[in-house]
Amino acid sequence: MSNELYAVVGHPISHSKSPRIHSVFASQTGESVEYTAIQAPLDGFAETVHRFFRKGGKGLNVTVPFKEQAWQLADQRADRAEKAGAANTLYLNDQGLLVADNTDGQGLVQDLSVSHGVQLKNARILILGAGGAVRGVLGPLLAQEPASLTIANRTEAKANALAALFADEAGTTQLSACGFDEPDQPFDVVINGTSASLQGDLPPLNAGIISADTVVYDMMYSLQTTTFNQWALDNGAVRVVDGLGMLVEQAAESFRIWRGVRPETIPVIEMLRND
Ligand code: ATR
Repeated sequence: MSNELYAVVGHPISHSKSPRIHSVFASQTGESVEYTAIQAPLDGFAETVHRFFRKGGKGLNVTVPFKEQAWQLADQRADRAEKAGAANTLYLNDQGLLVADNTDGQGLVQDLSVSHGVQLKNARILILGAGGAVRGVLGPLLAQEPASLTIANRTEAKANALAALFADEAGTTQLSACGFDEPDQPFDVVINGTSASLQGDLPPLNAGIISADTVVYDMMYSLQTTTFNQWALDNGAVRVVDGLGMLVEQAAESFRIWRGVRPETIPVIEMLRND
């Protein structure tokens, strides 16, 4: 059987680990999948997507800076993508309509709760940032029914807006928003969803949010300990995790949507960690 074509679209894209991840998923599951990387022009995302599907492509992952455009372009959106305001997975349904999904939040929750055994139900969670990355994971985090979810951001108004947007999904979770300087008591889980480290910055946080029992999760990943996780370790954290597992888990969820088979993720995370 000839391979069916999938790709990740972004700009830039050469650094993307997705082709490697998906080709390992394909050989592991025996699925006839070929997965490439496409750099779309900054003003040519929609055209790139349409051309890909016209040529018979089966599914796309979408990364920076096109996730919001992918969401807008879709004819239909999965429920979990609707509030996320961004999509990382596209495919055509049986009627030929373009469907958008967002697997980032599921990827984060899967990595935290399954791979790392972190109990999210009834946990007190602090999430830092209020941009697209955080918006994309709030729904799946709330679905885990934490006791509280605090959104802290440099621009407090954006954190307030996100808390208001997700108020109807909060259920029994105490959902709130604040600036970076406000939280000063230890949380069970602290998640960094800011892009501060890209500028070599650290959010100006009170070290009191960290205790030896706090699980610290940086949605960024790097070969060395991330800047944020190093800060947490320096301030008493014992368990720090970076976003490599989230990357592999969101990929596995996209693969499942497209192919109906969920690949094994742990060996792939270990393989990338040892690269
Ligand atoms: P992404 O899609 O990665 O979320 P984004 O929508 O541009 O990108 O959001 C970036 C997030 O990182 C925002 O929460 C931003 O804070 P502001 O809302 O105040 O802009 C945060 N961020 C970026 N640079 C930062 C820095 N140097 N210090 C602290 N927070 C920063």
